Amino acid sequence: MEAINASIAFDRRLAHQDIEASRAHAAMLAACGIINSTDGTAIREGLLTVLSEIEAGTFPFSAALEDVHMNVETRLSDIIGEAAGRLHTARSRNDQVATDFRMWTRERIDELSDGLRQLIVAFLDQAEAGSGWIMPGFTHLQAAQPVTWGHHMMAYVEMFARDRSRALDARRRMNECPLGAAALAGTSFPIDREMTAETLGFDRPSANSLDAVSDRDFALDFLSFAAITAMHLSRLAEEVVVWASPGFRFITLSDRFSTGSSIMPQKRNPDAAELIRAKTGRINGSLMGLLTVMKGLPLAYSKDMQEDKELLFDAADSLALAIAAMTGMVADMTADPVRMRTLAADGFPTATDLADWLVRERGMAFRDAHHATGRLVRLAESRGCELADIPLEDMQDICGMPIGDSVRSVLTVEASVSSRTSYGGTAPETVRNQIAQWRQCLQAEMSGGTAP
Ligand code: ARG
Repeated sequence: MEAINASIAFDRRLAHQDIEASRAHAAMLAACGIINSTDGTAIREGLLTVLSEIEAGTFPFSAALEDVHMNVETRLSDIIGEAAGRLHTARSRNDQVATDFRMWTRERIDELSDGLRQLIVAFLDQAEAGSGWIMPGFTHLQAAQPVTWGHHMMAYVEMFARDRSRALDARRRMNECPLGAAALAGTSFPIDREMTAETLGFDRPSANSLDAVSDRDFALDFLSFAAITAMHLSRLAEEVVVWASPGFRFITLSDRFSTGSSIMPQKRNPDAAELIRAKTGRINGSLMGLLTVMKGLPLAYSKDMQEDKELLFDAADSLALAIAAMTGMVADMTADPVRMRTLAADGFPTATDLADWLVRERGMAFRDAHHATGRLVRLAESRGCELADIPLEDMQDICGMPIGDSVRSVLTVEASVSSRTSYGGTAPETVRNQIAQWRQCLQAEMSGGTAP
Protein backbone atom coordinates (compact mmCIF):
# COMPACT_ATOMS: atom_id res chain seq x y z
CA MET A 1 0.00 0.00 0.00
CA GLU A 2 2.76 2.40 0.93
CA ALA A 3 4.56 1.75 -2.34
CA ILE A 4 1.57 2.76 -4.43
CA ASN A 5 0.19 5.41 -2.10
CA ALA A 6 3.17 7.48 -1.00
CA SER A 7 4.07 10.52 -3.08
CA ILE A 8 6.82 11.98 -0.91
CA ALA A 9 9.53 10.69 -3.27
CA PHE A 10 8.43 13.32 -5.77
CA ASP A 11 6.06 15.79 -4.10
CA ARG A 12 8.85 16.93 -1.78
CA ARG A 13 9.48 19.38 -4.59
CA LEU A 14 6.40 21.22 -3.32
CA ALA A 15 7.83 21.71 0.17
CA HIS A 16 8.54 25.42 -0.27
CA GLN A 17 5.08 26.16 -1.58
CA ASP A 18 3.52 23.94 1.08
CA ILE A 19 5.21 25.85 3.86
CA GLU A 20 4.45 29.25 2.38
CA ALA A 21 0.77 28.34 1.99
CA SER A 22 0.61 26.90 5.52
CA ARG A 23 2.14 30.06 6.95
CA ALA A 24 -0.47 32.16 5.16
CA HIS A 25 -3.22 29.84 6.38
CA ALA A 26 -2.01 30.05 10.00
CA ALA A 27 -1.82 33.85 9.84
CA MET A 28 -5.39 33.96 8.51
CA LEU A 29 -6.69 31.55 11.18
CA ALA A 30 -5.16 33.78 13.87
CA ALA A 31 -6.41 37.00 12.27
CA CYS A 32 -9.94 35.56 12.16
CA GLY A 33 -9.74 34.41 15.78
CA ILE A 34 -10.05 30.74 14.79
CA ILE A 35 -6.78 29.94 16.58
CA ASN A 36 -5.13 32.17 19.16
CA SER A 37 -2.23 34.39 18.19
CA THR A 38 0.29 32.52 20.36
CA ASP A 39 -0.41 29.32 18.46
CA GLY A 40 -0.45 31.24 15.19
CA THR A 41 3.01 32.64 15.85
CA ALA A 42 4.38 29.29 17.04
CA ILE A 43 3.12 27.61 13.88
CA ARG A 44 4.51 30.30 11.60
CA GLU A 45 7.91 30.25 13.24
CA GLY A 46 8.02 26.47 13.52
CA LEU A 47 7.34 26.26 9.79
CA LEU A 48 10.39 28.45 9.14
CA THR A 49 12.47 25.98 11.12
CA VAL A 50 11.08 23.15 9.01
CA LEU A 51 11.95 25.13 5.89
CA SER A 52 15.52 25.66 7.04
CA GLU A 53 15.87 21.92 7.67
CA ILE A 54 14.64 21.20 4.16
CA GLU A 55 17.05 23.74 2.71
CA ALA A 56 19.93 22.33 4.75
CA GLY A 57 19.07 18.83 3.54
CA THR A 58 18.57 17.53 7.08
CA PHE A 59 14.81 17.09 6.94
CA PRO A 60 13.82 13.48 7.70
CA PHE A 61 11.47 12.70 4.77
CA SER A 62 9.43 9.59 5.47
CA ALA A 63 7.41 7.44 3.09
CA ALA A 64 5.32 6.21 6.01
CA LEU A 65 3.99 9.77 6.24
CA GLU A 66 2.81 9.52 2.66
CA ASP A 67 3.20 12.99 1.22
CA VAL A 68 4.83 16.36 1.66
CA HIS A 69 1.86 17.76 3.58
CA MET A 70 1.92 15.07 6.27
CA ASN A 71 5.72 15.16 6.42
CA VAL A 72 5.80 18.90 7.06
CA GLU A 73 2.96 18.88 9.56
CA THR A 74 4.41 15.95 11.52
CA ARG A 75 7.81 17.58 11.68
CA LEU A 76 6.17 20.82 12.81
CA SER A 77 4.55 18.95 15.66
CA ASP A 78 7.94 17.45 16.66
CA ILE A 79 9.31 20.98 16.83
CA ILE A 80 6.51 23.04 18.40
CA GLY A 81 4.32 20.37 20.00
CA GLU A 82 0.59 20.52 20.45
CA ALA A 83 -0.06 23.85 18.66
CA ALA A 84 0.89 22.16 15.36
CA GLY A 85 -2.35 20.21 15.57
CA ARG A 86 -4.31 23.44 15.02
CA LEU A 87 -2.77 24.22 11.61
CA HIS A 88 -5.06 21.87 9.72
CA THR A 89 -8.22 23.65 10.96
CA ALA A 90 -10.54 24.67 8.10
CA ARG A 91 -8.52 23.06 5.37
CA SER A 92 -7.79 19.67 3.88
CA ARG A 93 -4.96 18.16 1.92
CA ASN A 94 -7.21 18.53 -1.11
CA ASP A 95 -7.24 22.32 -1.14
CA GLN A 96 -3.69 22.30 0.21
CA VAL A 97 -2.22 20.32 -2.69
CA ALA A 98 -4.26 22.28 -5.23
CA THR A 99 -2.82 25.50 -3.80
CA ASP A 100 0.78 24.28 -3.53
CA PHE A 101 0.77 22.90 -7.03
CA ARG A 102 -0.66 26.06 -8.53
CA MET A 103 2.02 28.09 -6.83
CA TRP A 104 4.70 25.74 -8.11
CA THR A 105 3.34 25.90 -11.66
CA ARG A 106 3.10 29.67 -11.50
CA GLU A 107 6.78 29.90 -10.55
CA ARG A 108 7.79 27.66 -13.44
CA ILE A 109 5.81 29.87 -15.82
CA ASP A 110 7.69 32.92 -14.63
CA GLU A 111 11.03 31.18 -15.11
CA LEU A 112 10.15 29.72 -18.49
CA SER A 113 8.80 33.02 -19.70
CA ASP A 114 12.09 34.61 -18.74
CA GLY A 115 13.95 31.82 -20.55
CA LEU A 116 11.88 32.45 -23.67
CA ARG A 117 12.67 36.14 -23.45
CA GLN A 118 16.38 35.31 -23.53
CA LEU A 119 15.86 33.02 -26.50
CA ILE A 120 14.03 35.83 -28.29
CA VAL A 121 16.93 38.19 -27.59
CA ALA A 122 19.36 35.64 -29.07
CA PHE A 123 17.26 35.62 -32.26
CA LEU A 124 17.10 39.42 -32.37
CA ASP A 125 20.90 39.54 -32.17
CA GLN A 126 21.25 37.01 -35.00
CA ALA A 127 18.65 38.88 -37.06
CA GLU A 128 20.41 42.17 -36.56
CA ALA A 129 23.83 40.78 -37.51
CA GLY A 130 22.44 39.32 -40.73
CA SER A 131 19.40 41.38 -41.58
CA GLY A 132 20.52 41.63 -45.21
CA TRP A 133 22.19 38.23 -45.68
CA ILE A 134 20.45 36.29 -48.42
CA MET A 135 19.50 32.65 -48.03
CA PRO A 136 17.19 30.32 -49.88
CA GLY A 137 13.63 30.38 -48.58
CA PHE A 138 11.95 27.00 -48.75
CA THR A 139 8.59 25.43 -49.26
CA HIS A 140 8.49 21.61 -49.19
CA LEU A 141 12.19 22.00 -48.27
CA GLN A 142 12.70 22.93 -51.93
CA ALA A 143 14.30 26.28 -52.67
CA ALA A 144 11.37 28.62 -53.35
CA GLN A 145 12.32 32.30 -53.17
CA PRO A 146 15.29 34.07 -51.65
CA VAL A 147 14.74 35.45 -48.16
CA THR A 148 16.96 37.16 -45.65
CA TRP A 149 18.61 35.49 -42.67
CA GLY A 150 17.18 38.25 -40.51
CA HIS A 151 13.68 37.44 -41.73
CA HIS A 152 14.10 33.76 -40.93
CA MET A 153 15.40 34.56 -37.45
CA MET A 154 12.48 36.90 -36.86
CA ALA A 155 10.00 34.15 -37.75
CA TYR A 156 11.19 32.36 -34.62
CA VAL A 157 10.82 35.53 -32.59
CA GLU A 158 7.12 35.55 -33.54
CA MET A 159 6.74 31.88 -32.63
CA PHE A 160 8.40 32.05 -29.25
CA ALA A 161 6.66 35.30 -28.39
CA ARG A 162 3.34 33.51 -28.95
CA ASP A 163 4.52 30.73 -26.63
CA ARG A 164 5.32 33.31 -24.01
CA SER A 165 1.93 34.86 -24.34
CA ARG A 166 0.32 31.41 -24.02
CA ALA A 167 2.24 30.89 -20.78
CA LEU A 168 1.13 34.25 -19.45
CA ASP A 169 -2.48 33.54 -20.43
CA ALA A 170 -2.30 30.30 -18.48
CA ARG A 171 -0.81 32.14 -15.53
CA ARG A 172 -3.60 34.70 -15.50
CA ARG A 173 -6.23 31.97 -15.62
CA MET A 174 -4.66 29.78 -12.92
CA ASN A 175 -4.14 32.60 -10.48
CA GLU A 176 -7.09 31.80 -8.21
CA CYS A 177 -6.54 30.42 -4.74
CA PRO A 178 -8.18 27.07 -3.82
CA LEU A 179 -7.17 27.30 -0.16
CA GLY A 180 -10.25 27.29 2.05
CA ALA A 181 -12.26 25.03 -0.25
CA ALA A 182 -11.28 22.41 2.34
CA ALA A 183 -12.07 18.79 1.45
CA LEU A 184 -14.73 19.70 -1.12
CA ALA A 185 -17.64 21.61 0.47
CA GLY A 186 -16.01 24.63 2.07
CA THR A 187 -15.87 25.06 5.83
CA SER A 188 -18.08 26.20 8.71
CA PHE A 189 -15.19 28.20 10.24
CA PRO A 190 -15.32 31.96 9.60
CA ILE A 191 -12.23 32.01 7.38
CA ASP A 192 -11.05 34.89 5.22
CA ARG A 193 -10.27 33.47 1.82
CA GLU A 194 -9.48 36.90 0.38
CA MET A 195 -6.71 37.22 2.90
CA THR A 196 -4.94 33.95 2.08
CA ALA A 197 -5.43 34.54 -1.63
CA GLU A 198 -3.83 37.95 -1.40
CA THR A 199 -0.97 36.82 0.87
CA LEU A 200 -0.06 34.10 -1.60
CA GLY A 201 -0.13 36.40 -4.62
CA PHE A 202 -3.36 35.11 -6.13
CA ASP A 203 -5.81 37.47 -7.81
CA ARG A 204 -8.82 36.05 -5.95
CA PRO A 205 -10.10 32.93 -4.18
CA SER A 206 -11.57 30.29 -6.48
CA ALA A 207 -15.34 30.58 -6.57
CA ASN A 208 -16.57 27.00 -6.23
CA SER A 209 -15.12 24.67 -3.62
CA LEU A 210 -15.87 21.49 -5.61
CA ASP A 211 -14.17 22.91 -8.67
CA ALA A 212 -11.29 24.30 -6.62
CA VAL A 213 -10.15 20.87 -5.37
CA SER A 214 -10.91 18.88 -8.51
CA ASP A 215 -9.58 21.25 -11.13
CA ARG A 216 -6.25 20.53 -12.80
CA ASP A 217 -6.85 22.75 -15.82
CA PHE A 218 -3.97 24.93 -14.71
CA ALA A 219 -1.65 21.93 -15.06
CA LEU A 220 -3.13 21.08 -18.45
CA ASP A 221 -2.85 24.70 -19.59
CA PHE A 222 0.77 24.57 -18.57
CA LEU A 223 1.36 21.32 -20.42
CA SER A 224 -0.41 22.61 -23.52
CA PHE A 225 1.84 25.63 -23.52
CA ALA A 226 4.83 23.34 -22.93
CA ALA A 227 3.85 20.96 -25.73
CA ILE A 228 3.37 23.74 -28.28
CA THR A 229 6.64 25.36 -27.25
CA ALA A 230 8.44 22.03 -27.49
CA MET A 231 6.95 21.52 -30.95
CA HIS A 232 8.36 24.92 -31.99
CA LEU A 233 11.72 24.06 -30.49
CA SER A 234 11.76 20.78 -32.39
CA ARG A 235 11.12 22.55 -35.69
CA LEU A 236 13.97 24.91 -34.98
CA ALA A 237 16.17 22.02 -33.83
CA GLU A 238 15.47 20.28 -37.11
CA GLU A 239 16.51 23.38 -39.05
CA VAL A 240 19.69 23.61 -37.00
CA VAL A 241 20.49 19.97 -37.80
CA VAL A 242 19.82 20.55 -41.50
CA TRP A 243 21.67 23.88 -41.66
CA ALA A 244 24.72 22.42 -39.94
CA SER A 245 24.81 19.38 -42.25
CA PRO A 246 27.50 19.14 -44.96
CA GLY A 247 24.95 19.56 -47.78
CA PHE A 248 23.86 22.94 -46.43
CA ARG A 249 26.67 24.37 -44.30
CA PHE A 250 24.58 27.49 -43.56
CA ILE A 251 25.78 27.54 -39.97
CA THR A 252 28.61 26.31 -37.84
CA LEU A 253 27.77 25.36 -34.29
CA SER A 254 30.17 26.44 -31.60
CA ASP A 255 32.38 23.87 -29.88
CA ARG A 256 30.36 24.47 -26.74
CA PHE A 257 27.18 23.29 -28.44
CA SER A 258 28.42 20.41 -30.57
CA THR A 259 30.13 17.13 -29.85
CA GLY A 260 32.82 15.07 -31.53
CA SER A 261 32.50 11.47 -32.61
CA SER A 262 34.32 8.75 -30.69
CA ILE A 263 35.53 7.26 -33.96
CA MET A 264 35.39 9.93 -36.70
CA PRO A 265 37.68 12.83 -35.79
CA GLN A 266 36.20 15.21 -38.38
CA LYS A 267 32.67 15.11 -36.94
CA ARG A 268 30.93 18.01 -35.24
CA ASN A 269 27.58 16.63 -34.22
CA PRO A 270 24.52 18.73 -33.34
CA ASP A 271 23.63 16.57 -30.32
CA ALA A 272 22.00 19.39 -28.38
CA ALA A 273 19.67 20.14 -31.29
CA GLU A 274 18.80 16.47 -31.63
CA LEU A 275 18.06 16.13 -27.93
CA ILE A 276 15.92 19.26 -27.97
CA ARG A 277 14.03 17.77 -30.93
CA ALA A 278 13.56 14.58 -28.90
CA LYS A 279 12.42 16.26 -25.66
CA THR A 280 9.18 17.00 -27.49
CA GLY A 281 8.33 13.33 -27.04
CA ARG A 282 8.25 13.32 -23.27
CA ILE A 283 6.60 16.74 -23.06
CA ASN A 284 3.80 15.62 -25.38
CA GLY A 285 3.68 12.44 -23.32
CA SER A 286 3.07 14.45 -20.16
CA LEU A 287 0.20 16.32 -21.78
CA MET A 288 -1.40 13.10 -23.05
CA GLY A 289 -0.71 11.48 -19.69
CA LEU A 290 -2.50 14.09 -17.63
CA LEU A 291 -5.39 14.45 -20.07
CA THR A 292 -5.87 10.72 -19.68
CA VAL A 293 -5.57 10.80 -15.89
CA MET A 294 -8.23 13.49 -15.66
CA LYS A 295 -10.60 12.03 -18.21
CA GLY A 296 -13.71 10.58 -16.60
CA LEU A 297 -12.88 11.60 -13.01
CA PRO A 298 -16.02 12.37 -11.03
CA LEU A 299 -16.10 15.48 -8.82
CA ALA A 300 -14.42 16.26 -6.55
CA TYR A 301 -10.96 14.95 -5.51
CA SER A 302 -9.76 11.46 -6.41
CA LYS A 303 -6.35 10.05 -5.66
CA ASP A 304 -5.77 9.67 -9.39
CA MET A 305 -4.87 13.34 -9.30
CA GLN A 306 -1.69 12.63 -7.37
CA GLU A 307 -0.35 11.40 -10.71
CA ASP A 308 -0.34 14.97 -12.00
CA LYS A 309 2.94 15.95 -10.41
CA GLU A 310 5.64 13.83 -11.99
CA LEU A 311 4.22 14.61 -15.42
CA LEU A 312 4.47 18.34 -14.81
CA PHE A 313 7.82 18.14 -13.08
CA ASP A 314 9.31 16.26 -15.98
CA ALA A 315 7.76 18.51 -18.63
CA ALA A 316 8.86 21.69 -16.84
CA ASP A 317 12.42 20.41 -16.34
CA SER A 318 12.70 19.19 -19.91
CA LEU A 319 11.35 22.42 -21.33
CA ALA A 320 13.61 24.62 -19.20
CA LEU A 321 16.62 22.62 -20.30
CA ALA A 322 15.60 22.65 -23.95
CA ILE A 323 15.08 26.43 -23.93
CA ALA A 324 18.40 27.06 -22.18
CA ALA A 325 20.32 24.79 -24.57
CA MET A 326 18.61 26.31 -27.59
CA THR A 327 19.37 29.83 -26.40
CA GLY A 328 23.06 28.98 -26.04
CA MET A 329 23.15 27.28 -29.39
CA VAL A 330 21.43 30.14 -31.25
CA ALA A 331 23.56 32.79 -29.55
CA ASP A 332 26.76 30.89 -30.39
CA MET A 333 26.10 29.69 -33.93
CA THR A 334 27.87 31.36 -36.85
CA ALA A 335 26.00 31.74 -40.10
CA ASP A 336 27.91 31.73 -43.40
CA PRO A 337 26.44 34.48 -45.62
CA VAL A 338 28.58 33.55 -48.64
CA ARG A 339 27.47 29.93 -48.60
CA MET A 340 23.82 30.91 -48.08
CA ARG A 341 24.00 33.44 -50.93
CA THR A 342 25.45 30.79 -53.25
CA LEU A 343 22.66 28.31 -52.57
CA ALA A 344 20.07 31.09 -52.67
CA ALA A 345 20.89 31.76 -56.32
CA ASP A 346 20.55 28.07 -57.20
CA GLY A 347 17.37 26.64 -58.76
CA PHE A 348 15.87 29.76 -60.43
CA PRO A 349 14.57 31.32 -57.22
CA THR A 350 13.76 34.62 -58.96
CA ALA A 351 11.32 33.05 -61.42
CA THR A 352 8.43 34.65 -59.52
CA ASP A 353 10.15 38.04 -59.76
CA LEU A 354 10.32 37.62 -63.53
CA ALA A 355 6.62 36.74 -63.68
CA ASP A 356 5.80 39.72 -61.46
CA TRP A 357 7.86 41.96 -63.77
CA LEU A 358 5.89 40.82 -66.84
CA VAL A 359 2.66 41.62 -64.98
CA ARG A 360 3.83 45.00 -63.72
CA GLU A 361 5.83 46.27 -66.71
CA ARG A 362 4.05 44.56 -69.62
CA GLY A 363 0.52 44.25 -68.33
CA MET A 364 0.44 40.47 -68.73
CA ALA A 365 -2.13 38.47 -66.74
CA PHE A 366 -0.35 36.67 -63.89
CA ARG A 367 -1.37 33.21 -65.17
CA ASP A 368 0.15 33.93 -68.61
CA ALA A 369 3.25 35.39 -67.02
CA HIS A 370 3.54 32.27 -64.83
CA HIS A 371 3.32 30.10 -67.93
CA ALA A 372 5.87 32.10 -69.93
CA THR A 373 8.28 32.15 -67.01
CA GLY A 374 7.95 28.40 -66.66
CA ARG A 375 9.05 28.00 -70.26
CA LEU A 376 12.01 30.32 -69.67
CA VAL A 377 13.05 28.27 -66.64
CA ARG A 378 12.99 25.09 -68.70
CA LEU A 379 15.04 26.79 -71.37
CA ALA A 380 17.65 27.94 -68.84
CA GLU A 381 17.67 24.47 -67.32
CA SER A 382 18.31 22.80 -70.68
CA ARG A 383 21.13 25.22 -71.43
CA GLY A 384 22.59 24.97 -67.95
CA CYS A 385 22.47 28.77 -67.52
CA GLU A 386 20.84 31.30 -65.20
CA LEU A 387 17.60 33.10 -66.07
CA ALA A 388 19.60 36.32 -66.39
CA ASP A 389 21.82 34.70 -69.06
CA ILE A 390 18.97 33.95 -71.48
CA PRO A 391 19.37 36.21 -74.55
CA LEU A 392 16.70 38.90 -74.82
CA GLU A 393 15.56 37.57 -78.22
CA ASP A 394 14.64 34.21 -76.65
CA MET A 395 12.78 35.98 -73.87
CA GLN A 396 10.84 38.09 -76.37
CA ASP A 397 10.05 34.99 -78.40
CA ILE A 398 8.63 33.08 -75.47
CA CYS A 399 6.78 36.04 -73.95
CA GLY A 400 5.58 37.35 -77.28
CA MET A 401 6.44 40.97 -76.51
CA PRO A 402 9.35 43.40 -76.52
CA ILE A 403 11.65 42.96 -73.52
CA GLY A 404 14.61 45.21 -72.78
CA ASP A 405 17.72 44.85 -70.70
CA SER A 406 15.99 46.37 -67.67
CA VAL A 407 14.40 42.97 -66.95
CA ARG A 408 17.76 41.70 -65.72
CA SER A 409 17.64 44.05 -62.76
CA VAL A 410 14.85 41.97 -61.18
CA LEU A 411 16.60 38.67 -61.75
CA THR A 412 19.23 38.95 -59.00
CA VAL A 413 18.50 37.58 -55.54
CA GLU A 414 19.46 40.97 -54.06
CA ALA A 415 16.81 42.74 -56.12
CA SER A 416 14.31 40.03 -55.25
CA VAL A 417 14.60 40.39 -51.47
CA SER A 418 14.90 44.20 -51.54
CA SER A 419 11.66 44.43 -53.50
CA ARG A 420 9.66 42.54 -50.86
CA THR A 421 8.86 45.51 -48.69
CA SER A 422 5.21 44.59 -48.05
CA TYR A 423 4.35 44.53 -44.34
CA GLY A 424 5.91 41.41 -42.84
CA GLY A 425 8.01 40.84 -45.98
CA THR A 426 11.63 39.77 -46.25
CA ALA A 427 13.29 43.04 -47.41
CA PRO A 428 16.23 43.97 -45.15
CA GLU A 429 14.72 47.35 -44.24
CA THR A 430 11.37 45.73 -43.35
CA VAL A 431 13.18 43.21 -41.18
CA ARG A 432 15.17 45.95 -39.46
CA ASN A 433 11.92 47.73 -38.60
CA GLN A 434 10.57 44.56 -37.04
CA ILE A 435 13.73 44.08 -35.02
CA ALA A 436 13.50 47.65 -33.72
CA GLN A 437 9.86 47.15 -32.77
CA TRP A 438 10.57 43.95 -30.85
CA ARG A 439 13.51 45.54 -29.06
CA GLN A 440 11.25 48.39 -28.04
CA CYS A 441 8.59 45.98 -26.74
CA LEU A 442 11.11 44.06 -24.65
CA GLN A 443 12.58 47.30 -23.38
CA ALA A 444 9.15 48.54 -22.33
CA GLU A 445 8.47 45.23 -20.61
CA MET A 446 11.71 45.42 -18.65
CA SER A 447 10.79 48.87 -17.43
CA GLY A 448 7.49 47.69 -16.04
CA GLY A 449 5.11 47.24 -18.97
CA THR A 450 3.41 44.00 -19.88
CA ALA A 451 4.98 41.24 -21.92
CA PRO A 452 4.38 41.57 -25.69
N1 ARG B 1 -0.68 13.61 -2.00
C1 ARG B 1 -2.01 13.96 -2.39
C2 ARG B 1 -2.00 14.41 -3.84
O1 ARG B 1 -0.99 14.78 -4.33
C3 ARG B 1 -2.52 15.05 -1.53
C4 ARG B 1 -4.00 15.06 -1.38
C5 ARG B 1 -4.45 13.87 -0.63
N2 ARG B 1 -5.86 13.94 -0.40
C6 ARG B 1 -6.59 12.88 0.01
N3 ARG B 1 -7.85 13.04 0.16
N4 ARG B 1 -6.03 11.71 0.21
O2 ARG B 1 -3.03 14.40 -4.51
